[in-house]
Amino acid sequence: MAKIISLVNQKGGVGKTTTAVNLSTSLAQAGKFVLLVDLDPQANATSGLGVDPRSIEKSLYHSMVLGEHPGEHIIKLQTMGHNLLPSNRDLAGATVELVNLDNREYRLYNALRHVRTEYDYIIIDSPPSLGPLTINGLVASDEVVIPVQCEYYALEGLSQLLETINLVRDNLQPDLKIMGAVLTMFDRRNRLSYQVVREVKDHFPGRVFESVIPRSVRLAEAPSFGKSIFDFDLFSRGAKSYKNLANEILRTESEGESGFHL
Ligand SMILES: Nc1ncnc2c1ncn2[C@@H]1O[C@H](COP(=O)(O)OP(=O)(O)O)[C@@H](O)[C@H]1O
Ligand SMILES: [Mg+2]
Repeated sequence: MAKIISLVNQKGGVGKTTTAVNLSTSLAQAGKFVLLVDLDPQANATSGLGVDPRSIEKSLYHSMVLGEHPGEHIIKLQTMGHNLLPSNRDLAGATVELVNLDNREYRLYNALRHVRTEYDYIIIDSPPSLGPLTINGLVASDEVVIPVQCEYYALEGLSQLLETINLVRDNLQPDLKIMGAVLTMFDRRNRLSYQVVREVKDHFPGRVFESVIPRSVRLAEAPSFGKSIFDFDLFSRGAKSYKNLANEILRTESEGESGFHL
Protein backbone atom coordinates (compact mmCIF):
# COMPACT_ATOMS: atom_id res chain seq x y z
CA MET A 1 0.00 0.00 0.00
CA ALA A 2 1.40 3.35 -1.01
CA LYS A 3 2.11 6.02 1.55
CA ILE A 4 0.30 9.11 0.30
CA ILE A 5 1.94 12.47 0.93
CA SER A 6 0.43 15.89 0.11
CA LEU A 7 2.59 18.95 -0.41
CA VAL A 8 0.48 21.77 0.93
CA ASN A 9 0.80 25.50 1.48
CA GLN A 10 -1.94 27.87 0.38
CA LYS A 11 0.68 30.42 -0.61
CA GLY A 12 1.76 30.30 -4.22
CA GLY A 13 5.42 30.25 -5.21
CA VAL A 14 6.81 28.55 -2.11
CA GLY A 15 8.18 25.50 -3.92
CA LYS A 16 5.34 22.95 -3.71
CA THR A 17 5.54 21.94 -7.37
CA THR A 18 9.34 21.98 -7.52
CA THR A 19 9.39 19.76 -4.44
CA ALA A 20 6.67 17.43 -5.77
CA VAL A 21 8.49 16.96 -9.09
CA ASN A 22 11.96 16.44 -7.68
CA LEU A 23 11.06 14.52 -4.54
CA SER A 24 8.94 12.07 -6.52
CA THR A 25 11.69 11.64 -9.12
CA SER A 26 14.28 11.06 -6.42
CA LEU A 27 12.14 8.44 -4.65
CA ALA A 28 11.70 6.64 -7.99
CA GLN A 29 15.45 6.78 -8.61
CA ALA A 30 15.91 5.14 -5.22
CA GLY A 31 13.97 2.18 -6.64
CA LYS A 32 10.50 2.99 -5.32
CA PHE A 33 7.32 2.95 -7.41
CA VAL A 34 6.02 6.48 -7.27
CA LEU A 35 2.91 8.20 -8.59
CA LEU A 36 2.90 11.98 -8.79
CA VAL A 37 -0.64 13.38 -8.72
CA ASP A 38 -1.02 16.85 -10.18
CA LEU A 39 -3.93 18.35 -8.24
CA ASP A 40 -3.36 21.90 -9.51
CA PRO A 41 -5.40 23.07 -12.54
CA GLN A 42 -2.38 25.18 -13.52
CA ALA A 43 -0.71 21.83 -14.29
CA ASN A 44 2.84 23.03 -13.52
CA ALA A 45 3.97 19.60 -12.33
CA THR A 46 2.58 18.06 -15.52
CA SER A 47 4.32 20.49 -17.87
CA GLY A 48 7.44 20.58 -15.66
CA LEU A 49 7.90 16.89 -16.38
CA GLY A 50 7.61 17.36 -20.12
CA VAL A 51 3.92 16.49 -20.58
CA ASP A 52 2.00 19.19 -22.45
CA PRO A 53 -1.31 19.61 -20.57
CA ARG A 54 -3.00 20.64 -23.85
CA SER A 55 -2.00 17.39 -25.47
CA ILE A 56 -3.68 15.08 -22.96
CA GLU A 57 -7.26 14.06 -23.51
CA LYS A 58 -7.94 12.84 -20.02
CA SER A 59 -6.63 14.04 -16.72
CA LEU A 60 -7.17 13.77 -13.00
CA TYR A 61 -10.49 15.52 -13.67
CA HIS A 62 -11.83 12.36 -15.32
CA SER A 63 -10.98 10.18 -12.34
CA MET A 64 -11.96 12.66 -9.65
CA VAL A 65 -15.11 14.17 -11.06
CA LEU A 66 -16.32 11.64 -13.62
CA GLY A 67 -15.26 8.63 -11.58
CA GLU A 68 -13.20 6.92 -14.33
CA HIS A 69 -10.44 4.47 -13.38
CA PRO A 70 -7.24 6.56 -12.97
CA GLY A 71 -5.14 3.73 -14.43
CA GLU A 72 -6.36 4.85 -17.84
CA HIS A 73 -5.00 8.38 -17.38
CA ILE A 74 -1.63 7.63 -15.83
CA ILE A 75 1.48 8.46 -17.86
CA LYS A 76 4.90 6.80 -17.52
CA LEU A 77 7.76 9.26 -17.04
CA GLN A 78 11.47 9.17 -17.87
CA THR A 79 12.66 7.57 -14.62
CA MET A 80 11.66 3.95 -14.26
CA GLY A 81 8.90 3.52 -11.70
CA HIS A 82 7.90 7.20 -11.88
CA ASN A 83 4.35 7.80 -13.10
CA LEU A 84 2.15 10.87 -13.41
CA LEU A 85 -1.56 11.39 -13.00
CA PRO A 86 -1.67 14.63 -15.00
CA SER A 87 -3.77 17.74 -14.67
CA ASN A 88 -5.12 20.14 -17.25
CA ARG A 89 -7.54 23.05 -17.39
CA ASP A 90 -10.54 20.70 -17.00
CA LEU A 91 -9.63 20.48 -13.34
CA ALA A 92 -10.32 24.19 -12.85
CA GLY A 93 -14.03 23.48 -13.26
CA ALA A 94 -13.84 20.68 -10.70
CA THR A 95 -13.83 23.17 -7.85
CA VAL A 96 -17.35 24.20 -8.81
CA GLU A 97 -18.57 20.76 -9.89
CA LEU A 98 -17.39 19.07 -6.71
CA VAL A 99 -19.90 21.04 -4.65
CA ASN A 100 -22.79 19.06 -6.14
CA LEU A 101 -21.21 15.61 -6.03
CA ASP A 102 -21.72 12.83 -3.49
CA ASN A 103 -18.77 12.32 -1.15
CA ARG A 104 -17.24 15.49 -2.52
CA GLU A 105 -14.33 15.48 -0.07
CA TYR A 106 -13.53 11.83 -0.82
CA ARG A 107 -13.35 11.97 -4.62
CA LEU A 108 -9.54 11.82 -4.80
CA TYR A 109 -9.36 9.26 -2.00
CA ASN A 110 -11.76 7.03 -3.92
CA ALA A 111 -9.91 7.52 -7.21
CA LEU A 112 -6.53 6.64 -5.67
CA ARG A 113 -7.92 3.52 -4.00
CA HIS A 114 -7.89 1.84 -7.43
CA VAL A 115 -4.12 2.27 -7.86
CA ARG A 116 -2.83 2.54 -4.32
CA THR A 117 -1.52 -1.03 -4.12
CA GLU A 118 0.66 -0.49 -7.21
CA TYR A 119 2.90 2.13 -5.60
CA ASP A 120 5.22 2.69 -2.67
CA TYR A 121 4.58 6.44 -2.63
CA ILE A 122 1.94 8.73 -4.03
CA ILE A 123 2.95 12.40 -3.96
CA ILE A 124 0.23 15.02 -4.38
CA ASP A 125 1.04 18.52 -5.65
CA SER A 126 -1.67 20.86 -4.31
CA PRO A 127 -2.95 24.15 -5.71
CA PRO A 128 -2.22 27.40 -3.84
CA SER A 129 -5.45 27.51 -1.85
CA LEU A 130 -7.26 25.66 0.91
CA GLY A 131 -10.25 25.05 -1.36
CA PRO A 132 -12.05 21.81 -2.30
CA LEU A 133 -9.15 20.39 -4.36
CA THR A 134 -6.63 20.76 -1.54
CA ILE A 135 -9.17 19.33 0.93
CA ASN A 136 -9.56 16.30 -1.35
CA GLY A 137 -5.77 15.98 -1.35
CA LEU A 138 -5.59 16.09 2.46
CA VAL A 139 -8.41 13.58 2.88
CA ALA A 140 -6.61 11.19 0.50
CA SER A 141 -3.30 11.57 2.36
CA ASP A 142 -1.52 9.84 5.20
CA GLU A 143 0.95 12.67 5.69
CA VAL A 144 1.42 16.34 4.90
CA VAL A 145 4.69 18.01 3.99
CA ILE A 146 4.66 21.81 4.16
CA PRO A 147 7.15 23.64 1.94
CA VAL A 148 8.14 26.95 3.53
CA GLN A 149 10.00 29.55 1.52
CA CYS A 150 12.91 31.29 3.25
CA GLU A 151 11.43 34.75 2.73
CA TYR A 152 9.72 37.57 4.56
CA TYR A 153 6.35 36.45 5.94
CA ALA A 154 7.40 32.79 5.70
CA LEU A 155 5.16 31.91 8.63
CA GLU A 156 2.22 33.95 7.44
CA GLY A 157 -0.79 31.73 6.81
CA LEU A 158 0.71 28.72 8.56
CA SER A 159 -1.70 28.89 11.50
CA GLN A 160 -4.62 28.87 9.07
CA LEU A 161 -3.08 25.89 7.31
CA LEU A 162 -2.65 24.00 10.58
CA GLU A 163 -6.25 24.83 11.50
CA THR A 164 -7.46 23.39 8.19
CA ILE A 165 -5.39 20.24 8.75
CA ASN A 166 -6.95 19.89 12.20
CA LEU A 167 -10.45 20.31 10.77
CA VAL A 168 -9.78 17.62 8.18
CA ARG A 169 -8.45 15.36 10.90
CA ASP A 170 -11.43 15.96 13.20
CA ASN A 171 -14.07 15.53 10.52
CA LEU A 172 -12.78 13.63 7.51
CA GLN A 173 -9.45 11.83 7.91
CA PRO A 174 -8.56 11.08 11.56
CA ASP A 175 -5.20 9.48 10.69
CA LEU A 176 -3.79 12.47 8.83
CA LYS A 177 -0.33 13.39 10.13
CA ILE A 178 2.11 16.19 9.54
CA MET A 179 5.44 14.76 8.45
CA GLY A 180 7.20 18.09 8.61
CA ALA A 181 8.15 21.39 7.04
CA VAL A 182 10.76 21.64 4.31
CA LEU A 183 12.63 24.92 3.92
CA THR A 184 12.96 26.02 0.31
CA MET A 185 14.88 28.71 -1.59
CA PHE A 186 17.44 29.09 1.16
CA ASP A 187 20.00 31.75 0.24
CA ARG A 188 23.17 31.31 2.23
CA ARG A 189 24.30 34.88 1.49
CA ASN A 190 21.15 36.33 2.95
CA ARG A 191 20.89 36.71 6.70
CA LEU A 192 17.09 36.59 6.48
CA SER A 193 17.28 32.96 5.33
CA TYR A 194 18.98 31.94 8.58
CA GLN A 195 16.39 33.85 10.57
CA VAL A 196 13.51 32.07 8.80
CA VAL A 197 15.15 28.68 9.45
CA ARG A 198 15.25 29.54 13.17
CA GLU A 199 11.65 30.75 13.23
CA VAL A 200 10.32 27.70 11.40
CA LYS A 201 12.25 25.40 13.74
CA ASP A 202 10.67 27.20 16.70
CA HIS A 203 7.26 26.78 15.10
CA PHE A 204 7.66 23.07 14.28
CA PRO A 205 10.01 21.78 16.97
CA GLY A 206 11.73 18.60 15.80
CA ARG A 207 9.68 18.56 12.61
CA VAL A 208 11.75 20.50 10.12
CA PHE A 209 13.57 18.37 7.57
CA GLU A 210 17.34 18.57 7.91
CA SER A 211 17.64 18.84 4.15
CA VAL A 212 17.22 22.47 3.19
CA ILE A 213 16.58 23.28 -0.47
CA PRO A 214 18.88 26.07 -1.70
CA ARG A 215 17.80 28.88 -3.98
CA SER A 216 19.21 27.74 -7.29
CA VAL A 217 18.76 28.95 -10.84
CA ARG A 218 19.15 25.36 -12.10
CA LEU A 219 16.06 24.28 -10.11
CA ALA A 220 14.07 27.14 -11.64
CA GLU A 221 15.32 26.39 -15.17
CA ALA A 222 14.68 22.64 -15.23
CA PRO A 223 10.86 22.77 -15.70
CA SER A 224 11.15 24.87 -18.86
CA PHE A 225 13.04 21.91 -20.35
CA GLY A 226 10.37 19.53 -19.07
CA LYS A 227 12.87 17.82 -16.81
CA SER A 228 13.42 17.08 -13.17
CA ILE A 229 16.64 18.46 -11.72
CA PHE A 230 18.13 14.95 -11.91
CA ASP A 231 17.72 14.78 -15.68
CA PHE A 232 18.63 18.43 -16.11
CA ASP A 233 21.69 18.84 -13.88
CA LEU A 234 22.46 15.75 -11.82
CA PHE A 235 25.45 17.26 -10.04
CA SER A 236 23.82 20.54 -9.01
CA ARG A 237 23.25 21.55 -5.40
CA GLY A 238 19.51 21.42 -6.03
CA ALA A 239 19.68 17.78 -7.13
CA LYS A 240 21.74 16.91 -4.08
CA SER A 241 19.31 18.63 -1.71
CA TYR A 242 16.27 16.82 -3.13
CA LYS A 243 18.12 13.52 -2.98
CA ASN A 244 18.83 14.23 0.69
CA LEU A 245 15.18 15.03 1.32
CA ALA A 246 14.09 11.76 -0.32
CA ASN A 247 16.64 9.86 1.78
CA GLU A 248 15.34 11.49 4.94
CA ILE A 249 11.82 10.35 4.11
CA LEU A 250 13.03 6.83 3.27
CA ARG A 251 15.01 6.70 6.51
CA THR A 252 12.03 7.80 8.64
CA GLU A 253 10.08 5.03 6.97
CA SER A 254 12.58 2.31 7.73
CA GLU A 255 12.88 3.45 11.33
CA GLY A 256 9.13 3.04 11.60
CA GLU A 257 8.76 6.60 12.80
CA SER A 258 5.63 8.42 11.79
CA GLY A 259 4.36 11.95 11.66
CA PHE A 260 3.10 13.89 14.62
CA HIS A 261 -0.21 15.25 15.74
CA LEU A 262 -0.26 18.94 16.43
N1 LIG B 1 14.91 26.22 -4.74
C1 LIG B 1 14.57 27.05 -5.72
N2 LIG B 1 15.47 27.92 -6.23
C2 LIG B 1 15.11 28.80 -7.19
N3 LIG B 1 13.90 28.88 -7.73
C3 LIG B 1 12.96 28.03 -7.28
C4 LIG B 1 13.25 27.08 -6.25
N4 LIG B 1 12.10 26.39 -5.98
C5 LIG B 1 11.17 26.88 -6.81
N5 LIG B 1 11.67 27.86 -7.59
C6 LIG B 1 10.95 28.67 -8.58
O1 LIG B 1 10.02 29.49 -7.89
C7 LIG B 1 8.77 29.52 -8.57
C8 LIG B 1 7.69 28.94 -7.65
O2 LIG B 1 8.01 27.59 -7.35
P1 LIG B 1 6.90 26.46 -7.39
O3 LIG B 1 7.57 25.17 -7.07
O4 LIG B 1 6.14 26.52 -8.68
O5 LIG B 1 5.98 26.91 -6.20
P2 LIG B 1 4.43 26.58 -5.86
O6 LIG B 1 4.11 25.25 -6.48
O7 LIG B 1 4.38 26.54 -4.37
O8 LIG B 1 3.62 27.68 -6.42
C9 LIG B 1 8.96 28.71 -9.83
O9 LIG B 1 9.27 29.59 -10.87
C10 LIG B 1 10.12 27.81 -9.51
O10 LIG B 1 10.85 27.44 -10.66
MG1 LIG C 1 2.55 24.76 -7.81
